[in-house]
Amino acid sequence: MFDSKMIDRELKKHLPKDNLILSRAMRYSVFAGGKRFRPGLMLLVAKMLNGKAKDILPAAAAVEMIHTFTLIHDDLPCMDNSDLRRGVLTCHKKFGEDIALLAGDALNTLAFKICPPQVVAELAEALLDVVKGQVLDLGYISSPSLSQLKRIHLLKTAALIKVSAKIAAILSGAKPKEVLALSCYGEEMGLAFQIADDILDFVSDAKTLGKPAGADSSNNKSTYPLILGLEEAKRLAGRHMRKALSELEVFGKKALQLAELAEYSVRRIK
Ligand code: IPE
Ligand code: IPE
Ligand code: MG
Ligand code: MG
Ligand code: MG
Repeated sequence: MFDSKMIDRELKKHLPKDNLILSRAMRYSVFAGGKRFRPGLMLLVAKMLNGKAKDILPAAAAVEMIHTFTLIHDDLPCMDNSDLRRGVLTCHKKFGEDIALLAGDALNTLAFKICPPQVVAELAEALLDVVKGQVLDLGYISSPSLSQLKRIHLLKTAALIKVSAKIAAILSGAKPKEVLALSCYGEEMGLAFQIADDILDFVSDAKTLGKPAGADSSNNKSTYPLILGLEEAKRLAGRHMRKALSELEVFGKKALQLAELAEYSVRRIK
């Protein structure tokens, strides 16, 4: 759907090349094999708007670094306590908790160094939402209602996917109306994406996912499949996906690949 090699080349260009343990840990987690969903989304937005890939790539690399940093921290023993990520040992299992914490810090810092100044505030705002969402996800709300659960998903996951679409639109010179439509598309797709993540945790296995399965119930997390049951959770993911598709209508046929990405966000197997 998109050229993930182009994204990897951009990441490589910005990541440190030296042999320090910090640099090795950063490269280890970034190149462990993620789907590149967010930077891929950004490339597809740029393509639809006739923007140039090279104008998007630094921001796309910044988003992927931030995403990877949140995953490294999400996996720490004080958070989800996970041993497997992207098919390999988590950063802290490989390098120790101290280095994993700092590799996350370094990826976050580097991301803001390479992000185009024009969109830094947008990215920072979204990351603050992710952090708030991660706090709410820790379980201080003992049995969240459906609307509380939706708010957690909006913050911890949809915020970064939404801002990816938004930033790519801004950097491609989109009109305000187009920026808004793509932001809404990103947000709805982000909600669908996190429900799909929760469903996969419920039904799949670690080998397929590249991360532990069944982790949400063992961590006492409230998720849609655990609260609503599998079928209702799938229906809800489908509803958000279709809302995302409806935001693309203004772009007509040009939005075919973004529509495919939204469909992929719910039918993916990892
Ligand atoms: C995992 O994100 C964390 C969530 C927000 C659900 P991805 O499913 O995009 O993970 P990678 O980047 O492919 O490893
Ligand atoms: C991740 O949610 C959200 C982040 C911001 C990292 P999860 O905790 O469900 O993600 P996975 O399942 O570990 O990838
Ligand atoms: Mg988590
Ligand atoms: Mg987790
Ligand atoms: Mg999960």
